[in-house]
Amino acid sequence: MTTLGTPLSPSATRVMLLGSGELGKEVLIALQRLGVETIAVDRYDNAPGQQVAHHARTIAMSDPAQLKALIEAERPHLVVPEIEAIATPMLQELEAAGVVTVIPTARAARLTMDREGIRRLAAETLGLPTSPYKFCDSLAELQAAIDGGIGYPCVVKPVMSSSGKGQSKIDGPHDVQKAWDHAMAGGRVSHGRVIVEGFIDFDYEITQLTVRAKGADGRVQTHFCDPIGHVQVAGDYVESWQPHPMHPAALETSRAIAKAVTDDLGGLGLFGVELFVKGEQVWFSEVSPRPHDTGMVTMATQWQNEFELHARAILGLPVDTALKTPGASAVIYGGVDAQGIVFDGVDEALALPGTELRLFGKPESFAKRRMGVALARHADVEQARVVAKQAAGKVRPRRG
Ligand SMILES: Nc1ncnc2c1ncn2[C@@H]1O[C@H](COP(=O)(O)OP(=O)(O)OP(=O)(O)O)[C@@H](O)[C@H]1O
Ligand SMILES: [Mg+2]
Repeated sequence: MTTLGTPLSPSATRVMLLGSGELGKEVLIALQRLGVETIAVDRYDNAPGQQVAHHARTIAMSDPAQLKALIEAERPHLVVPEIEAIATPMLQELEAAGVVTVIPTARAARLTMDREGIRRLAAETLGLPTSPYKFCDSLAELQAAIDGGIGYPCVVKPVMSSSGKGQSKIDGPHDVQKAWDHAMAGGRVSHGRVIVEGFIDFDYEITQLTVRAKGADGRVQTHFCDPIGHVQVAGDYVESWQPHPMHPAALETSRAIAKAVTDDLGGLGLFGVELFVKGEQVWFSEVSPRPHDTGMVTMATQWQNEFELHARAILGLPVDTALKTPGASAVIYGGVDAQGIVFDGVDEALALPGTELRLFGKPESFAKRRMGVALARHADVEQARVVAKQAAGKVRPRRG
């Protein structure tokens, strides 16, 4: 049996989000709706999720001492990582000491905090199909890895990075130096390690949202959402749609891969499993043990969106992953580097039938920062994509 308390009282069920961007904000809203007391943590003040939580805290989450001090002071029932750049070894320590429960588990947060832990787990421990890959610590090692079998074309990524930062494709020998320099400039921490992966010439890529939630018998069950198709530009998601039509065999393989990796990571919650598909062949790319940016489309397309599914699952509640309607999402970038920007054309965007908007409320805009997302529902998923992009295009951010 799950019991929930009253927020701001001694009976409160208290949940701490580590990272309070646009994805954390929606998880916090879902938790708020269940009367959960929420603590939104980020590295800067007035982060999107901090604007909708009971409590806001600003710390360097990659600093183990600051993270420990905050968790010990707040004593939340659950700690929910929303980003990768967290002092996850400290989370493991605190979880082992029985201080907190980490979602889905502290081990999962640690394994997915960089590309090496999760790739080795998927390919070497679980034997799942992935691109050929090598980890390299220098330009010379990178060149040797390519010459030794990875070949051209290939993709280089800092081990610690997300949203395509520091990532580039190498088409031939003349690109190697450039890709190495780009990776060194774009990584989250400058320890100079990269992964080089053989380029997969996929037909399409999907996110398989996968939920581990308690069933009526108290045992964990795995639920799958309809596949989400998406387009990435320079390693960053720009549009997504659901459902993505798939060959039944490819869908079955995708779900078997998603099941294998989420079974191993364990715990409760929603995962975003990224897969490449060519014909009936499927490759595992990576997994987020939390809601996925391409899954924002589910705010328009599912009865319970990915944030509600995550909130329910982590609280031990039942979930329903059924699709409500086909739909699509399209990203709204800041376009300018400025604080306190304004958005023109919101009315024009929302005048398009079947559309919704989320403006995240980020205090500072950058040209390439994701500031909002347009959502569209339509019986025809291709038409939904058109309308979502139209709506996103109507919203014009500018200096305030
Ligand atoms: N080996 C590969 N072959 C072909 N395309 C690739 C390969 N690796 C990455 N890509 C492309 O680049 C995109 C981003 O790669 P990846 O997911 O590894 O980076 P990321 O920085 O973690 O991105 P995000 O944080 O947005 O998920 C992929 O979704 C895919 O479109
Ligand atoms: Mg990715």
